[in-house]
Amino acid sequence: MTTTEPHTPTAAGSGTSASRAFRAAARQTQDVPAERVDAVARAVLEGIHQAIREHNVTYPEFQAAKQWLMDVGEGGEWPLFLDVFVEHVVEDVAARTQDGTKGSIQGPYYLPGQVTLPSTTALPMRPGEQGTPLVLAGQVRDLDGEPVAGAELDIWQADADGYYSGFAPGIPDGNLRGVVVSDGQGRFEVSTVQPAPYQIPTDGPTGRLIAAAGWHAWRPAHLHLMVRAPGYRTITTQLYFQGGQWLDSDIAEATKPELVLDPRPQGDGSLRAGYDFVLERA
Ligand code: DHB
Ligand code: FE
Repeated sequence: MTTTEPHTPTAAGSGTSASRAFRAAARQTQDVPAERVDAVARAVLEGIHQAIREHNVTYPEFQAAKQWLMDVGEGGEWPLFLDVFVEHVVEDVAARTQDGTKGSIQGPYYLPGQVTLPSTTALPMRPGEQGTPLVLAGQVRDLDGEPVAGAELDIWQADADGYYSGFAPGIPDGNLRGVVVSDGQGRFEVSTVQPAPYQIPTDGPTGRLIAAAGWHAWRPAHLHLMVRAPGYRTITTQLYFQGGQWLDSDIAEATKPELVLDPRPQGDGSLRAGYDFVLERA
């Protein structure tokens, strides 16, 4: 992957698309009580005050931070920044009350309303889609081990260059996205390609921060899934690949050992991975 490819997304392009997707998503709005706003906003501000005192932050550094924050907003990069650096802690808190399959962050690149697919299927892909063919097969069950028929596995992933349809130029809408419905035994078998690791766009303010701090900008290769069925709590999660690069240093800190696939090479050069999902009652 190089930065000269014609379909390389820019931070501004990805940020604008991610901001649009976020605003378009129907979500519960909540009237947060004043005491809670007071407690959380105060704690956030105190954390900033504490960092300034502890590190003797100067006026020029404060102004540089102000400029950077303005740039993040103007570039539409808040969804990217927050999902990479903050969402994993929100997910940790949610996970305290969640049984069944472990969750992980949703990230900024989910798009609802994708094509519905049968239990044995292939994700929509381009003719000659690059990447190692991969089959993900398994079963959806409840906490008692009973199969969940008709569960929806809403899958989205990057391609073999690490780019997501809908957020990078030149990829057809809906590519490597789809809603797979489990069969009468809760089973599914999905053909796709192995995604590449994902790099945070380096040409915007988030990328500038990462470079300025000497961090790397990578997430390990992953598949995103939302698994839902009527009467069950929806699981939003990601699956990773055993031995994959960046697995131990995900910039989004969103990996969990229970979410790592161990795909087996098949005779024909493809990979096959098994994974079962366990849903809890809503
Ligand atoms: C981001 C991108 C991802 O693909 C993901 O899974 C999580 C976060 C991001 O750029 O913020
Ligand atoms: Fe992702």
